Amino acid sequence: MSAAAAFAAEPATPAAPRLVYVKAARLLDPKSGTVLPDQVITIEGDHVKAVSALAATTLPADAHVIDLGNATVLPGLIDCHTHVTSQPENFYEDLFRKSPIDEATTSHLYARRTLLAGFTTIRNVGAGNYVDFALRRAIEKGEVAGPRMQASGPALSATGGHGDLNGMSPYVRFEGDINGVADGVDAVRKKVRENIKYGADVIKMLATAGVLSEEESVGAPQYQLDEMKAIVEEAALWGRKVAAHAHGAEGIKMAIKAGVASVEHSSFIDDEGIKLALEHGTYLVFDIYNDDYILAEYSRLGYPDKIIEKERKVGRTQRENFARAVKAGCKMAYGTDSGVYPHGWNGKQFFHMVKWGMTPMQAIQAATVNAADLLGWQTKVGQIAPGFYADLIAVKGDPLADVTVLEKVDFVMKGGEVYRDRLAGQPVKQFE
Ligand code: ARG
Repeated sequence: MSAAAAFAAEPATPAAPRLVYVKAARLLDPKSGTVLPDQVITIEGDHVKAVSALAATTLPADAHVIDLGNATVLPGLIDCHTHVTSQPENFYEDLFRKSPIDEATTSHLYARRTLLAGFTTIRNVGAGNYVDFALRRAIEKGEVAGPRMQASGPALSATGGHGDLNGMSPYVRFEGDINGVADGVDAVRKKVRENIKYGADVIKMLATAGVLSEEESVGAPQYQLDEMKAIVEEAALWGRKVAAHAHGAEGIKMAIKAGVASVEHSSFIDDEGIKLALEHGTYLVFDIYNDDYILAEYSRLGYPDKIIEKERKVGRTQRENFARAVKAGCKMAYGTDSGVYPHGWNGKQFFHMVKWGMTPMQAIQAATVNAADLLGWQTKVGQIAPGFYADLIAVKGDPLADVTVLEKVDFVMKGGEVYRDRLAGQPVKQFE
């Protein structure tokens, strides 16, 4: 018998899968938009095996049961716009006294805070020097506690654009910096390929000017339509979607016409932009919490006045336009731009989304089923249903009555492992 045949003949002895039963008095199902009373979620390994009514479920005598009491159980939340590798402390110090090594050393803390806040999946749209790919690898290997991650690597930016180093002497360069600056159809195609080569799951493009950068405008387009189209087309060739940062009305429309999957920020979207987004099925990701944080903290953090001024132009209008887009029925996914404000505060945006026109259920859907759809992970995350990852969270109170209870998540399970538990006394996963 050949070695291969002997190997094939080995009797298969898979370890009996350990089933875990989670009792949920209130199970919020964003797919149907309902809350189901008294359910049992059966978990096998890292995924959900079944969801059934408690009354109709026989639990084995020695069953491992996690009873979450009266808490509301819901799928792990998804933030479609994070920058988990960094967090601002001081504008000039961050720029000149730190290096990518600092980011690489501290990003695991931010990933952990994000996960413990109930965000079991993130789409990280923009990180320099591929730090995001390294972080994702460590999380996937189980070496670091963090959410499931889609990562973009460096955001594609025009020279002088939102992703370039602006406002400095022409002699200021960061040696070896891996960024996303690329101009012209050929160069942007190459940059897309390069990002994918090193690990990009998604491509981030800076379609317009931004707030937290020193170019003059806050919303002018920064790529030509042919460059935007080339980015989307090239990404599609490699099976990747494109997320476009766009504040200004014109750049938003160009990005939608180019075929991006989502427009980030969407601040000055006009009626035509809303109409185009509806026609193309483009997701809008409005980061409508961080205005509060920037206006309250960024002067203290040493940001140039120019930047604070830009934020003043964006904040309120963006919220008003969020309300218009909700009314118009645009596809919306939850994305916060965490990393502009402290990681772990990702849940604070729910309040604003409800204040500006969503029902609490719509806001939760934006952060679960819609977000999963945007990520292309609609059969993996965003629901507690058979075959999905066992990513679930629980909160005390009723998020449909008061959505801010999602700011304090008391139980977090990702892939069947418990990472936080203030409800049922379960041991949490250790990293040693
Ligand atoms: N990263 C974004 C930018 O610099 C942040 C915008 C924050 N402000 C806001 N109102 N959403 O453009």
